[in-house]
Amino acid sequence: MPFHDPELHTRGESRYVDDLPQPEGMLHAAVFFSPVAHGRIRQLDVSAALEMEGVVAVLTAKDIPGENQIGPLIPDQELLASEEVFYIGQPVALVVATHAEQARKAARRISLQVDHLPVITDPREAYEKGEIIGTPRVFQLGDVEAAWEQCDLVLEGHCEIGGQEHVYLETQRARAVPAEGKAIRIYSSTQSPYAVQRHAARVLGYPNHLIEVDVLRLGGGFGGKEDQATAWACLVALATWHTGKPVELVLSREEDMIMTGKRHPYQSDFKIGVTRDGRILAFEVRHYQNAGAAADLSPAILERTLFHSTNSYFIPNVRLFAVSCRTHLPPFTAFRGFGGPQGMFVMESAIARVAEALNMPREEIQRKNLLKENDLFPYGQRATDCRARRTWDTAMEVYRFSEWKQRVEQFNQSHFHKKKGLAVMPICFGISFTATFLNQASALVHVYTDGSVSISTGGVEMGQGLRANIATIAARALGIRLERIKMESTNTTRIANMSPSAASATTVLNGNATLLAIQQILSRLKPLVARELNVPDPESITIQDEKIFYRGSETGWTWEKLVQTAYFKRVSLSAHGFFATPGIYFDKQKEKGRPFAYHVYGTAILEVTLDALRGTYTIDAVKIVHDLGRPLNRRVDLGQVEGGLAQGLGWMTVEELVFDENGRNLSGALATYKLPDVYFMPDDLEVTFLENADEPTGPFGNKAVGEPPFMYGIGVFFAIRQAMQAFRPREDYAFRAPLTPERVLMELHREEIARLRSRVLATSSAGK
Ligand code: MTE
Ligand code: HPA
Ligand code: MOS
Repeated sequence: MPFHDPELHTRGESRYVDDLPQPEGMLHAAVFFSPVAHGRIRQLDVSAALEMEGVVAVLTAKDIPGENQIGPLIPDQELLASEEVFYIGQPVALVVATHAEQARKAARRISLQVDHLPVITDPREAYEKGEIIGTPRVFQLGDVEAAWEQCDLVLEGHCEIGGQEHVYLETQRARAVPAEGKAIRIYSSTQSPYAVQRHAARVLGYPNHLIEVDVLRLGGGFGGKEDQATAWACLVALATWHTGKPVELVLSREEDMIMTGKRHPYQSDFKIGVTRDGRILAFEVRHYQNAGAAADLSPAILERTLFHSTNSYFIPNVRLFAVSCRTHLPPFTAFRGFGGPQGMFVMESAIARVAEALNMPREEIQRKNLLKENDLFPYGQRATDCRARRTWDTAMEVYRFSEWKQRVEQFNQSHFHKKKGLAVMPICFGISFTATFLNQASALVHVYTDGSVSISTGGVEMGQGLRANIATIAARALGIRLERIKMESTNTTRIANMSPSAASATTVLNGNATLLAIQQILSRLKPLVARELNVPDPESITIQDEKIFYRGSETGWTWEKLVQTAYFKRVSLSAHGFFATPGIYFDKQKEKGRPFAYHVYGTAILEVTLDALRGTYTIDAVKIVHDLGRPLNRRVDLGQVEGGLAQGLGWMTVEELVFDENGRNLSGALATYKLPDVYFMPDDLEVTFLENADEPTGPFGNKAVGEPPFMYGIGVFFAIRQAMQAFRPREDYAFRAPLTPERVLMELHREEIARLRSRVLATSSAGK
């Protein structure tokens, strides 16, 4: 792999928040959180905790000098609960002690008395009771009502989609250190340093400039630290403000799993109308998003669900409805795909329903309805440079789909209890933050007199390879060796007002900002060379392999000589670049616009083998054709495709998030929440990048890669479903994800299980 992060990782030398040397006298914090899902606080007693050994302070809502508010979109989320608690895991008090274990022990001594209030965990129930966040959104195209008439077949269905735990390797954590005067420096594991700065300042009643946030890298974020890293950083800042000491807070895995938000569960109803030959004429959907107890980023995530509700298909008449429903679960938050996957799952379910009713291969319906160049999305943007059919056709060809399908059919004919399923999963994902203003980024580039280069951007490294990408872009743009580049931490004193590192757009935005900064430096250096060499055209000066060329021939100058000359001639070797994605907008009144700079397309083919007597399955093969534009670093990009796929496969199959009716997370530990592992992944995994597919807005022809591959994983649901159909055809298998082996077993053998159950009940009552 390029660049030095992988080397540091391999040696175990890369640093995270709690690897930084401990400052003298650093204190440790632990959170006391609500043990009930909904209640009015009658009494909060922290006296026993205060008496415990090593305890320095116990902080509650009353100890917040500024505003007790960290809601990112609407002010509905307190840092520490003051009068009412809304979910199990909601922070109520912070214990600060000499050692972390002392703080945890003391937190257990805190008692909270509440008057219990009704608990809602179901989004439809919340909706019926008027517990919604914001207003419902509706995207429309054509005229669905009129279109139903023209359909040969109209079908309805219902989807239940589970949430997902992020399981970033590095749990949530932050450290605050007092700086000079009243200033505080925060080291945070956040995707959004500016959100941490802004909210910590708000909580302390500070101007933003008294808070400095520094982020070196994250041990994974996956959206879980886009907004939800903020609370922990604000809590340590508050503790430092009170004690004048450095304070660190590191959540244990269980604390993290109980307290933090996850991917949103959805319940959705669909209605789809087609012609006899499988052309989709009309599609209607109603999405009920389970937002949890606070808005967090839910309205933005809901919006992306709408943007991706027709996936990579053109449907002339649609009505897409979505509403965010408030429940008493932890506030659900960003997770790779940002609501898009839920929208796409429903679309794919509707197609499966049609395929099963028409007795037509699912892929035939998919292919027939794929987007073509210039087709209209329901939100008013056109599919330009559309690669839906190109990736589909390439996948069919290079992976020899028809032969593959024959093999699967032969296998199924010659086996009784083992059945294979094959599914095709096309994806289409819009690139840009859907909140247009967030599509801006800055970079600060310094060239030192020895020719080495320091780069700061607003982007955060979370394992996705941002540092490698930016360094590659800079080395290429400057024409120098990669080893010359040092990627700095992300710091709010070097880059102001940065957007979160999210929406897959971090390399796009910060890479382009880096290019603009470098262009400024080069536009000063080139005229200098021209003057010194007495040649007329500065634009004909280029740098390659650290050598300076004029009109393609060597000048004898090197990068080092150039930089030194510039210094002595008093030419600035630093620049700040600012990039804002051009040409995007969205009108929320009309629900139309051009929200995305472009779309990423791709097609995956997935094969599974089901053991129909046990309900277990293996994923045999996943083969992908992915549209990456021009790769920046093939292996980094491949890592993103494979990692995204793994997470998507897990979401659809074994990762089951379960809450009981009291709002308790029954899957709040790695013992009760199953993750896909290396054995789970297909042995036969192949990724082909589309060739000659440069994206003109770049950087360097590159397309965003972080989130889209997640959605290939959706295909596995339909591959398993197809294998189920091969064993026992049934029209009413549920569209309920995840499709765990247990659920497969229960669905396949519904009647037998019901018979067994009634027999067992009969014998046990006879025995009484
Ligand atoms: N890859 C790794 N290894 N770790 C992560 O936390 N986050 C994903 C994706 N890939 C993530 C990752 C998510 S949710 C997003 S939005 C993008 O990376 C963010 O980085 P990018 O904008 O540079 O693609
Ligand atoms: N993706 C991720 N985060 C966001 C987005 C988005 O589209 N919009 C606002 N925050
Ligand atoms: Mo990614 S969900 O946009 O952090």
